[in-house]
Amino acid sequence: MTTAPHGAAAELSTAPDRSRTAEALSDRFTDVYGYAPDGVWSAPGRVNIIGEHVDYQDGLCLPMAIEHRTFVAAARTPTDLLRLRSLQSDVVFEMQAKDLAPEKVEGWPAYVAGVLWALRPFFSGSQTRGADVLVDGYVPLGAGLSSSAALECAAAEAFEALFSLGTTPLDRVRACISAETDFAGAPTGGLDQSASILCSEGNALLLDCRDLSTRDVPWDLGSQGLALLICDTRAEHSHVDGEYVARRRDSEAAARALGVPTLRDVDPAGLDQALERIEDPTVRRRARHVVTEIQRVRDVVALLSRGSIRAQVDEVGALLNASHDSLRDDYEVTVPALDVAVDAARAAGAHGARMTGGGFGGSIIALVESDRAQATAQAITDAFVEQDLGTPEFFVSLPADGAGQER
Ligand code: GLA
Repeated sequence: MTTAPHGAAAELSTAPDRSRTAEALSDRFTDVYGYAPDGVWSAPGRVNIIGEHVDYQDGLCLPMAIEHRTFVAAARTPTDLLRLRSLQSDVVFEMQAKDLAPEKVEGWPAYVAGVLWALRPFFSGSQTRGADVLVDGYVPLGAGLSSSAALECAAAEAFEALFSLGTTPLDRVRACISAETDFAGAPTGGLDQSASILCSEGNALLLDCRDLSTRDVPWDLGSQGLALLICDTRAEHSHVDGEYVARRRDSEAAARALGVPTLRDVDPAGLDQALERIEDPTVRRRARHVVTEIQRVRDVVALLSRGSIRAQVDEVGALLNASHDSLRDDYEVTVPALDVAVDAARAAGAHGARMTGGGFGGSIIALVESDRAQATAQAITDAFVEQDLGTPEFFVSLPADGAGQER
């Protein structure tokens, strides 16, 4: 490891061993509730490789699941009582399932309770919905890596199995989106829940947000000597919710001005003429981001379909860079920590680097040669020390599988 100024050394962390985590959680469930769980389920966090702030405009996204997962040990009970505990929190949550209603539950329990609530159409009228649940999470919190979606999706897998609901993966995606949007009151666009349930190992997921249809896209970095470095800037998320809603409104205003249902319907070839029809310069820039970003997803997928990522790495990297620049200049969802991290990664030789997730803090990704991951992390850390931006955290992850049963 290289020595950093002021002694700040970057460390790359990986996710903990999965089967041991699941086994330990099962044991803890027995300690907490006094009997063994029916099973343990898990779901991953995600990074979005490209296709940012387009899901709520029917766009295309290209996420991959990361190896960091949230685990849920659970058992069905013969009552209607939902009991929730977490190894990461002192909160003890208990509520009758029939009393669950939007905005009645606060904090992390809302993401589990909300899923049970959203799955209600799949229960038969007389079926009780009682369950005991113990959560253990390894998706970094507040890092823009979808820890809340991971919790929702692990819970959805557990409830499907406990109650034999007969839901499809897409039913569970929709229930998790409803849990987050309608129950917890966070109006997200569906990218995170789709990724956490539908991603598969070794692949990125091409997600068409118009109908949530998906296609696996090979994203085999490891065998090509490449790695995706994830840097959680730890920058404080400020005004996230308000700004997110404001961006959604701007893009809706742009679609209205252009007379189309969503910006997905704007032909990128005619973008310049279309933009002239939008009077407000801010709304015009928002539209330019969404339309060009959807095209960048198409371009990345076309490059990856030509063969190994190795042969296309420069072009893919350039598209990642263009995505970040558009999010910084046109969509205005970056903050200094994200821009500094991206600039430092590029200067250290990354093929491409961009913010990932909602922005206003959170994480960046950098596509790097595997043997440059450490040096790139160090370069970002040094830039943060220099600019007094605090201490970032680093992860490396191969594309992991989606939600499922552990044991
Ligand atoms: C957040 C939301 C997603 C998506 C991204 C931006 O992660 O939860 O639905 O809108 O921001 O791409």
